[in-house]
Amino acid sequence: MSDLNLLDGIRAAVFDAYGTLFDVNAAVQRHAAAIGPQATSLSETWRTKQLEYSWIHGLMGRYEPFWTLTERALDFALAKHPDVDRGLRERLLDTYRDLDAYEEVPGVLSALRERGLRTAILTNGDKPMIDRAVASAGLAGHLDAVLTVDAVRMFKTHPDAYRIALDEFGVSREEVLFCSSNRWDIAGAAAYGFRPVWINRKGLPDEYPDFAPVAVLGSLDGLL
Ligand code: LAC
Repeated sequence: MSDLNLLDGIRAAVFDAYGTLFDVNAAVQRHAAAIGPQATSLSETWRTKQLEYSWIHGLMGRYEPFWTLTERALDFALAKHPDVDRGLRERLLDTYRDLDAYEEVPGVLSALRERGLRTAILTNGDKPMIDRAVASAGLAGHLDAVLTVDAVRMFKTHPDAYRIALDEFGVSREEVLFCSSNRWDIAGAAAYGFRPVWINRKGLPDEYPDFAPVAVLGSLDGLL
């Protein structure tokens, strides 16, 4: 599918939050010097465990707010990297509280709304953490809805999580453009029947061949 018809027939543009709209990586990097040589490893362990906990809870049919899982994942990452100063815990958690949006985000969201599309976040993050991130990045005025899996107590990639967007906008699956920088999330959106666009900001190799995106973009700019 070429960029030209990416938006054809689409009524709602729905976005993942962390890593897609919000630059979590830059926030963690700001503490890299304080963390020391294990900064990259700590950060990767933190993110990997945060996601693992969400999926494992989903498979168990249990739900904990994403903030709780984010804290537990950081505690594991710090325990695994004993040379890193424990005193950084709160500062590191702050990187998920107040965040900057990637620079193209406000302009792209505005342009999509000018074209008559509804815009929303659909995130595994819980309501308090995502509301704070949206406010700190100044995105509230660009979004028709901030949707979280809190509503169904089931994390993406469970179909119930993606259904939240349909219930919000009264649209069909084919009318939803879903953008995420997480390839696993794109797989989930593809399986659900959304039109998935992978925002591959880090130039990662492709995976989940049975659940492919319709387009791969380096940033949201390519949507327009
Ligand atoms: C989100 C995270 C997990 O759902 O990227 O926003």
